[in-house]
Amino acid sequence: MAGSSFENAEIATLTAECERLRATLRTSEEQQRILFDSNPLPVWVYDTESLAFLAVNESAIRHYGYSRAEFLGMTIRDIRPARDVPVLEAHLSGIAQTHAATEAWTHLKKDGAEITVDIFSHGIVYTGRAARLVVAVDITTRAAAEEKLRNSEERFQLVSRATSDAVWDWDFQTNLLWWGDGFCALFGYPRTDISPEVSWWAERIHPDDRDRVYNSLHRAIEEPATIFWSEEYRYLRKDGAYAIVQDRGHVIRDAAGKGIRMVGGMTDITEHKKLLNQYLRAQRMESIGTLAGGIAHDLNNVLAPILMSVDLLRIHMPDEGTHKLINTVEQSARRGADLVRQVLTFARGIDGSHRVAIQVEHLIKDVARIATETFPRSIRTEIQAEKDLWVVTGDATQLHQVILNLVVNARDAMPEGGTLTLTAENITIDAQYVATSRAAKPGFYLCIGIADTGCGIPQDEIDRIFEPFFTTKEVGKGTGLGLSTAHAIIESHRGFIAVYSEPGQGSTFKVYVPADPNLRAPASAAPAVADLPRGHGETILVIDDETSILTITRQTLEAFGYQVIVAHDGAEAVAVYAQHRDTIAAVLTDMVMPIMDGPATISALMRVNPHVLIIAASGLNSNGRVAKAAGAGVKHFLPKPYTAETLLITLRDVLRP
Ligand SMILES: Nc1ncnc2c1ncn2[C@@H]1O[C@H](COP(=O)(O)OP(=O)(O)OP(=O)(O)O)[C@@H](O)[C@H]1O
Ligand SMILES: [Mg+2]
Repeated sequence: MAGSSFENAEIATLTAECERLRATLRTSEEQQRILFDSNPLPVWVYDTESLAFLAVNESAIRHYGYSRAEFLGMTIRDIRPARDVPVLEAHLSGIAQTHAATEAWTHLKKDGAEITVDIFSHGIVYTGRAARLVVAVDITTRAAAEEKLRNSEERFQLVSRATSDAVWDWDFQTNLLWWGDGFCALFGYPRTDISPEVSWWAERIHPDDRDRVYNSLHRAIEEPATIFWSEEYRYLRKDGAYAIVQDRGHVIRDAAGKGIRMVGGMTDITEHKKLLNQYLRAQRMESIGTLAGGIAHDLNNVLAPILMSVDLLRIHMPDEGTHKLINTVEQSARRGADLVRQVLTFARGIDGSHRVAIQVEHLIKDVARIATETFPRSIRTEIQAEKDLWVVTGDATQLHQVILNLVVNARDAMPEGGTLTLTAENITIDAQYVATSRAAKPGFYLCIGIADTGCGIPQDEIDRIFEPFFTTKEVGKGTGLGLSTAHAIIESHRGFIAVYSEPGQGSTFKVYVPADPNLRAPASAAPAVADLPRGHGETILVIDDETSILTITRQTLEAFGYQVIVAHDGAEAVAVYAQHRDTIAAVLTDMVMPIMDGPATISALMRVNPHVLIIAASGLNSNGRVAKAAGAGVKHFLPKPYTAETLLITLRDVLRP
C-alpha cells in the first residue's frame, strides 16, 4: 500500500492546497463582502434583464428603509416615483455596457419621501447573470441649497427688473460691473452698448461731478467701518442729456473687513429736482411779493407828501426857473408812484375785478396789429388761431396786458429781426400732464402762445425770469416786472404760464387760461381793446412839452389809424398849424407848458382858424387854465392822466359829433 500512501500524501497536499485556496477565496469574498456591506454609500446589484435587486448593502437598507428581504423582492422600478418610470426605461435601453453616471435622479424611500441622488453604475456578471453594480449618492440637501440659490438669484433678477432703478453689482476681484435692465430703461442705452468695465460707467458721469463721486466711492470702500455709500450726480443719457441721479451702494466685506463686492442702485431724480426747484421758486416769489408789498406801501406814504407839496410850491414860487425844478421833482415822484403801484398790484395779487366772457382771438389780433404797426419791419408777425376757440372768462384789459408784455419781450429778444408767432388753441389738460407740472390743474384751457426766433433764455436764467425785478436789460430799458406781472395776472385767472426756450433759437411762452367749452361769448361782450374806435387817416396835431407823452400818444394814435404831427411847445404848434391847417383835423394840447402855456396857445390857434377843433388835456391842478380855455371857446376836455381808450373815444366824439 506504498502507492496508496504516496497517493495519500499527494491527496493530503492537494487537500491542504485546496483548503488554502478555499481560505484565500473565503478571505477575498469576505473582503468583497466587507467592502460591499460596510460601504457608507448605498450600493446594490440588479439584474439587467428583470431589473430585480440581486444584492443590497447595509447602507442601502438604512437609507431607503426597506429590509434586505423586501429589497430582494423588488425591482429598481419600485424605488422610482411612477412618473419617472418611462424615463428610467428609456434611459436603461441606451445605457453603456460598462461605466455610467447619471445626475439628480429622484428616488423613493419606503416612507414615500423623495430624495435626489447621483447614480454611478458599472456592468458586471453576478452569479452567472448580466447585472449592474450601483452606487447612489444622496444629494438632496445640496440640491435644495442649489434650488434656494437659484430662487434667490431669480428673485434678485425679478426685483432688479421690477424696480425702475438701475441696479448694479460690482465684483472687486474681477473689477467688473453687472447692470440690471433698469439701467437700459433709465438712460436709454441698449444692452449691447453696455460694457461691464467700471471705466465705462465712470466716463458717463458729468465731468464736474466725476472726481467727487470717485473720491467718496473709494473712501467708502477703503474705510472698513463703512457699509453704505450714497451720492447725487449728473449722469449722461444715451440721448446726450444729463439725468440727475441718486446712487446708493452697499459694500460687502470679508472677515478681515476688506471690501469684496458692492451692490447698489441708481435712481433718476431729475423730475423730482425740477419740481422741487419749481416749488422753491414759487415760495421765493411769494416772499418777495410780501416784502415788495410792504416796501411799496411805505414808499407810497413817502411819495404822497412830496406830490402834495409840489402843488403848493408852484403857487408859492411863481418864477419859471423854480417851476422847472418843481416839474422835475413832480415827474420823478410820479414815476416813483407808478412803480410803487405796479409793485403793489403784483404783491397784492391781481383780483381781476372786471370779469367778462372774452374771445381771445380778438385780443391776439389786436396785439398782432400793434406789433405789426409799431415794431421794426425786420420782425414778421404771424397769427395761427384754431377755429372755434373756447371762450374764457376774465379781465380783457389784464389779459391784453399779459400778451402785450410777452410780445414786447419777444421784440426785445429779436434785435436783428425774426418771426413773432401768436397762436391760440383749445387744450384739455389731463392728469398725466399735471403730474409733471406743478402749476397745472386738469381741465379745459385756452392756450395762447407767443413764440419768437430771438436770443433765447439760458438754462440757468429760466427759473428766475418770473421773479420781480429780474432783468437782463440795461438800466432804463427794463424794470423786470413784465413777466412777474403777467404771472400774477394769469394766476389770478387760475391759469399758468409755461416757457420753452433754446438759447440762440428762440423762446415760446404758453399762457393757459381756464376756458369753458360750453360758454358762448355774447356779441356785446367783445373785449374793449378790440372795440376801440379807430381813425380814418385824419391828421392830429399833438402839443406837449413832455417828449415821453408825445411819443406814447403818437404811438397810440398811429396804431389806431391816425396820422400825427407833434409840437413841443405852443410857439412850435402855432407855426406847424399855420403851415398844415388844411390837413390837420384836430389839435390835442396840454394846458401846462413852459414858454407859451395852453390858453395862450389856444387863442393863437383860434386866430389862425376860428373853427379849429381843440381838445384840452388838463391835470387836476390846472383848473384855472381850464376855465380860461373854456372862456376861449374850447369845448372838449380830456382829464389827465387819460387812457388810450378815453383818448380814442374823445377823438371820435370830436371828429364825428
Ligand atoms: N422772449 C424772450 N426771449 C429772451 N429772453 C426773454 C424773453 N422774455 C423774457 N426774457 C428774459 O426775462 C427777463 C425778464 O423779463 P420781464 O418781462 O419780466 O422784464 P424785462 O422785459 O426785462 O423788463 P420789463 O419790466 O420792462 O418787462 C428779461 O430781461 C429777459 O432776460
Ligand atoms: Mg418785459
